[in-house]
Amino acid sequence: MSLQYKNKNLVLLVVGCSGSGKSTYAIRFLLNCKASCRFIFDPRGEYADKLKRRACRVPAELHAAVGTGWVIYDPSYLFPGDPNTALEKFCEWAWTVSAKLPGQKIMFVDEVWKHCSPNFIPKSLAMILMDGRKNGIGSLLTTHRPNKLNDAIAGEATELVSFSLNGGLKLEWLAKNFDDFPVDQVKDLPPLHFIAQNLDSTAISRGELKF
Ligand SMILES: Nc1ncnc2c1ncn2[C@@H]1O[C@H](COP(=O)(O)OP(=O)(O)O)[C@@H](O)[C@H]1O
Ligand SMILES: [Mg+2]
Repeated sequence: MSLQYKNKNLVLLVVGCSGSGKSTYAIRFLLNCKASCRFIFDPRGEYADKLKRRACRVPAELHAAVGTGWVIYDPSYLFPGDPNTALEKFCEWAWTVSAKLPGQKIMFVDEVWKHCSPNFIPKSLAMILMDGRKNGIGSLLTTHRPNKLNDAIAGEATELVSFSLNGGLKLEWLAKNFDDFPVDQVKDLPPLHFIAQNLDSTAISRGELKF
């Protein structure tokens, strides 16, 4: 299989405080994007519930779900109490599957700060962030604690979306990592309003999610 270089390697980072709209944005994005497969790490069952789809618990279910374009993984069955190992294995598996699957694939990890730290990131997630383009797999990551993220995430991000965000350390982190981003404006954003920046072109857009 040739390297899937023609696919854009998207690394979309969505930040914002709790209840600001990150999950709603992620769901809209996953529903609207033209991905051949979405890999969703769902330790709390939030996305199986919201998307009204069955979560996969064992490898046979994961493999069977690829053809539907929606692989929602519940790690609590095979990795109870150990979501970090589960995420490592899930990313590794998604990476391997993506090599054989044409089209754009996307890995979604909600509240990714829970699974990394400034000094640690699961190796296979780092591989997807840094080399995802080889296998046509982008990523969508959300966090309400951007300052707890690993540098690889900020370094590889291609798009930043910020909902309302407060707190000195969090805002400082945004300003430090994204020079041109209007950090001073995110404090006052109402729920479901966001500011987005394409980090390649630096173009900024604003939006509001509606139910
Ligand atoms: N289906 C819905 N209808 C109306 N409001 C909703 C719905 N889903 C979420 N919300 C509201 O939208 C806001 C954003 O929620 P959410 O996207 O889950 O935030 P986050 O993921 O940033 O914590 C919250 O105020 C939530 O109560
Ligand atoms: Mg959420």
